[in-house]
Amino acid sequence: MPCCALLPLMLAIPLLWPGLTAASYSQAEKGSQPARPRWRGKRGWMWNQFSVPEELNTSSHHVGQLRSDLDNGNSSLQYKLLGDGAGSIFVIDNRTGDIFAKQKLDREERSLYILRAQVIDTITGKAVEPESEFVIRVSDINDNEPKFLDEPYEAIIPEMSPEGSFVIQVTASDADDPASGNNARLLYSLLQGQPYFSVEPTTGVIRISSKMDRELQDEYWVIIQAKDMIGLPGALSGTTSVLIKLSDVNDNKPIFKESLYRLTVSESAPIGTSIGKIMASDNDIGENAELDYSMEEDNSQTFDIITDNETQEGIVTLKKKVDFEYQNHYRIRAKVRNRHVDAQLTEYHVEPSTTVIKVQVTDEDEPPVFLRPYYLFEIYEGRPHGSFVGVVSATDPDLRKSPIGYSIPRSKVFRIDDNGTIITTNSLDREISAWHNLSVSATEKYNTQQISQVPVYVQVLNINDHAPEFSEYYRTFVCENANPGQVIQTISAVDKDASTEEHHFYFNLSTEDTNNSSFIIIDNQELVFACKRSLSCTSPS
Ligand SMILES: *[C@@H]1O[C@H](CO)[C@@H](O)[C@H](O)[C@H]1NC(C)=O
Ligand SMILES: *[C@@H]1O[C@H](CO)[C@@H](O)[C@H](O)[C@H]1NC(C)=O
Repeated sequence: MPCCALLPLMLAIPLLWPGLTAASYSQAEKGSQPARPRWRGKRGWMWNQFSVPEELNTSSHHVGQLRSDLDNGNSSLQYKLLGDGAGSIFVIDNRTGDIFAKQKLDREERSLYILRAQVIDTITGKAVEPESEFVIRVSDINDNEPKFLDEPYEAIIPEMSPEGSFVIQVTASDADDPASGNNARLLYSLLQGQPYFSVEPTTGVIRISSKMDRELQDEYWVIIQAKDMIGLPGALSGTTSVLIKLSDVNDNKPIFKESLYRLTVSESAPIGTSIGKIMASDNDIGENAELDYSMEEDNSQTFDIITDNETQEGIVTLKKKVDFEYQNHYRIRAKVRNRHVDAQLTEYHVEPSTTVIKVQVTDEDEPPVFLRPYYLFEIYEGRPHGSFVGVVSATDPDLRKSPIGYSIPRSKVFRIDDNGTIITTNSLDREISAWHNLSVSATEKYNTQQISQVPVYVQVLNINDHAPEFSEYYRTFVCENANPGQVIQTISAVDKDASTEEHHFYFNLSTEDTNNSSFIIIDNQELVFACKRSLSCTSPS
């Protein structure tokens, strides 16, 4: 296109350009076109390629001249213009065929006008040439600045991304004619955002040029400028802002807020009691700030640390009961780690942070403690009241040892001295009660609320204090013709006393009966046979 060929010249003198005359314009045009006027077909019309620069501030701009080659100065010929904008935008001098633009034109609104020309002989009233169509082009000037298309721009990239990482691409467009030189050829540059970001001049791709740490700054406003005319003088420009946010990576390890924590626990606290909290902070956010507290190896028999997932605090709990009198303070060490650490980021997490926890055990007034969990005593039955049974002993575990008093509630048979000695208050009979199972109380004299009990089992031992007795009263009948040796009754005895083996009884007839009795008694240890004496008695076979 002729207008395109003209453009390098226009670019070179952009400030002069509104003052260019049509003549110089067409001169320039001729420079790149065949110097001779172009002939259209066999007809006699001759014209140059017409073009009008847009945005001309003049009410009458000479566009060019229509001529018929039959026009030899004959004043009777008259030129006429028809078609797009004829008479309004474009007017023709009907004598000379000179065409003028009467209005300012905007290529971006309309870049082409199609018109028709007529030449009439006013004497004959006939057309000298056949009507012909021609085109007026509006040539581009750089009157549109680049505009960014997808505003607002926002991008999120991980902190610590390496140099060269892609962030986002911004794109501007320019309404000027892309075919017209550099009017729509854009060049991007960074107005704000150094030294962390760079922009590729031709593509608008924003990249990282320096590593960034979210914990120092978590978002950046980058301003990008697009200039047309590939940035040459006279270029128009547009800018856009890009908000770049850094997302978190786990590049911080948690650190304890204190290097020493002091906690206290009562010796009466049950297992599982939470005795205090420790806290580490982590500059990362979200999952990257989730913590895991734990105990360093030693001392972990007594205390434990669990993590409160809501507050990310470490809760120190009691794993084993503590005893003020045994150990009244502990020094333990705790450590903290992140729960989630990417394999690539372990370099940031070597050497977990540790802290010292000093636990003071507080003393409690505790009840007396018996030396044994229970007591078993033995005493023979039949001993007189006041007899010694056994001694129990309890002590106050507290530092301020209280004297202990003892008592045996609800016992009619025993009493206990202040020194723990149990004595009888009655004679004991094993055959009535073989066991006396007691509960002995120990009471601190300084604080009678502090009471403990211990079971005491008193076994009453047997003495042989009972004669054997017949199991029953026997009434025996015998037939008159009973044979000697015939068994007429078996008798047995019992003994209330306790025996380790079975009782053995000895049976015999009373002395007065032995001499003149018709019966004998055979001591068979267990069984006894009686025979009628008047007959010859024999042992049963
Ligand atoms: C215990 O106290 C009683 C007096 O109440 C005394 O007779 C006895 O000897 C004491 N026993 C011991 C072992 O001290
Ligand atoms: C007393 O304790 C002993 C030993 O534990 C047991 O054998 C006995 O049955 C108990 N007696 C009573 C009356 O509870």
